[in-house]
Amino acid sequence: MSVSINLDQVSHHSSSAKHPPRSPLTTHYSLTPALKARLATPLKIGTVEVQSRVLQSPLSGVTDLVFRRLVRRYAPQSMMYTEMVSAAELHHMRKLPKVMEVDPDERPISIQLFDRRPEFLAEAAKKAVDQGADTIDINMGCPVNKITKNGGGSSLLKDPDNAARIIETVSTAVSVPVTAKTRIGWSENDINAVKFARRLESAGIQMLTLHGRTRSQGYNGTADWSWIAKVKQALSVPVIANGDIFSVDAAINCLEQTQADGVMCSRGTLGYPFLVGEIDHFLKTGKHLPPPTIVERLRCAQEHLVMLAEYKGKSGIRQARKHMAWYAKGFDGAAELREKLCRIESVEEGCGLLEQVITVISPQLCSHSYRKTAIV
Ligand SMILES: Cc1cc2nc3c(=O)[nH]c(=O)nc-3n(C[C@H](O)[C@H](O)[C@H](O)COP(=O)(O)O)c2cc1C
Repeated sequence: MSVSINLDQVSHHSSSAKHPPRSPLTTHYSLTPALKARLATPLKIGTVEVQSRVLQSPLSGVTDLVFRRLVRRYAPQSMMYTEMVSAAELHHMRKLPKVMEVDPDERPISIQLFDRRPEFLAEAAKKAVDQGADTIDINMGCPVNKITKNGGGSSLLKDPDNAARIIETVSTAVSVPVTAKTRIGWSENDINAVKFARRLESAGIQMLTLHGRTRSQGYNGTADWSWIAKVKQALSVPVIANGDIFSVDAAINCLEQTQADGVMCSRGTLGYPFLVGEIDHFLKTGKHLPPPTIVERLRCAQEHLVMLAEYKGKSGIRQARKHMAWYAKGFDGAAELREKLCRIESVEEGCGLLEQVITVISPQLCSHSYRKTAIV
């Protein structure tokens, strides 16, 4: 299987971005002394101190131990989250699910749980602490029907009493800080972020991550950071801004607009495990790291594939297909490569396809960089 690429048509930016980047490349937000000073101290999540203000979000089907290893290479001090873990499934399982596995030296790490029943969540939280969780995060933002129809995820926005009970029960069950991640409301007509956040704070959360979209929005439209600013003003515990953080500029802009205590990266990291580290570096130094070259990104894709196959076997290869496609962006011919990567059956096949491209584009493109600026 061969891949043809046109070296005259190299573009620096993904042509397949579904939405324009929030901040055009020409807009550069600088790190003002005030912002630098405000974020120079550790992020305090109850008793846990984190030396970075940039967090890697929980992403179901993505943020497994392998992905987190890659992100951590560039952002060793950042807080990372497991994929969300079902407290109900955990209750019935004898063996711990793979989504709950963390590397023994992986710090700081939060295990995210979902369900509607406080006692199931408390039981799951104890197991998560045994696994090494530094904090327990409760998912109150997932929009997926399968989760919300059972009263979990974002449907808790409609049941603040139960959401508060969950936080109280889990906080009593474990000694590590309990945090929550939620959205600004159920729908455009039902935005209750401030009231809901205050309720969770009274119940004992030690940090809140707020995704600036409603449940009805899913992942569409732009995140409304103004609600994050309002919630930040209303709470004493740290508030982390989430939604549309696809670049260093977006992170700085968001931190300025919201005055949040940190930012959490999500879709911006798909096929781009460099993002959390890039933002962290900028916040600490005021300097931009050079973006990875296309060759570096494709080498990272190869490594990701090998690691996933080692960790999960055949299912790791199936899972790697989407990751490979996310990496194959930013040069003409990438679409053809993506199409082939989406069907790989083995590590050799995937690495071979990537190697062909690397061989063709090196050394001409070794210096061509690609910085992700928009959604996958
Ligand atoms: C593939 C995918 C999986 C996700 N899985 C989770 C999850 O397990 N737990 C969670 O709290 N949010 C999850 N989210 C939501 C993200 O963490 C984040 O809140 C959302 O994508 C908004 O940020 P963004 O606009 O920067 O992508 C997921 C999002 C995506 C796209």
